[in-house]
Amino acid sequence: MQKEYLTNLFSLEGKVALVTGAGRGIGQVIARDLARAGADIAIFSRSGAAETVKLIESEGGKAVDIIADCTSEEQVKAGIQKILEVCGRLDIVVNNAGVCYHKDIFEASVEEFRQVIDINLTGEYIVSREAARVMIETKTKGSIINIASMSAYIANVPQRQVAYNASKAGVIHMTKSLAVELVEYGIRVNSISPGYVATPMSIDPDFVEPELLAAWEPLFPMHRMAKPEELTGAVIWLCSDCAAYANGTDILIDGLYTAV
Ligand SMILES: NC(=O)c1ccc[n+]([C@@H]2O[C@H](COP(=O)([O-])OP(=O)(O)OC[C@H]3O[C@@H](n4cnc5c(N)ncnc54)[C@H](O)[C@@H]3O)[C@@H](O)[C@H]2O)c1
Repeated sequence: MQKEYLTNLFSLEGKVALVTGAGRGIGQVIARDLARAGADIAIFSRSGAAETVKLIESEGGKAVDIIADCTSEEQVKAGIQKILEVCGRLDIVVNNAGVCYHKDIFEASVEEFRQVIDINLTGEYIVSREAARVMIETKTKGSIINIASMSAYIANVPQRQVAYNASKAGVIHMTKSLAVELVEYGIRVNSISPGYVATPMSIDPDFVEPELLAAWEPLFPMHRMAKPEELTGAVIWLCSDCAAYANGTDILIDGLYTAV
């Protein structure tokens, strides 16, 4: 009886969730765990997310892999139409796709600055807008979750990453603003701000030099990075009906990083 109560409270059965950039990293684990909570999954990726689809299907879930670059209005519109054709509805969006360059104000070109803003901020805007259009047309009381970062609150050290930090601060305020604009349609918009999470973005030697990893080590108050799984409970909660009064908010999950 108690078990059923909790399962029903957090169940995403009958819902369809889009997760962007879910070919690997945080997005892959969010997609898997939303499927475990009962949702059918659609993925937007630039080069395919076969591994994620296989993972979800191996556990008995449903997933559809759609090639769509989140910065392209055209591809996002076509991708959302494809979700409607294949899955029949759209209830949840997790705007997860993102990039980070470790370059300071003088190293980064204006083009690189724009690229980061384009993917991390404008991409989330385009996907939110096109998803909200469909949710409004189909009278779906949807939930949009934008992945921001603790870098919205702090400037990470020792690396420099001005474009990333600015983009993530933008995500948090865009989230609040979209929540205000969409509240009358019953669509909630919230964000999650992780600290360092062990994914290719933060541990892959092609992206993070061993010296930088060593410099980060003593800065973790909990002596480690987060695992992607440690974010998914918050995502499932925000998607579920028990978060019906959570709107325009940011959930910081940073293992105390910004507190010390
Ligand atoms: N890893 C961390 O420490 C950390 C911390 C805080 C926030 N985040 C955020 O979490 C999200 C996921 O990061 P991750 O660590 O899993 O990184 P990751 O690099 O492992 O995965 C990001 C995914 O997004 C995809 N992507 C990038 N641009 C895209 C686009 N235009 N269209 C579609 N897909 C695109 C990439 O191909 C990749 O699959 C990002 O928004 C990131 O900024 C990560």
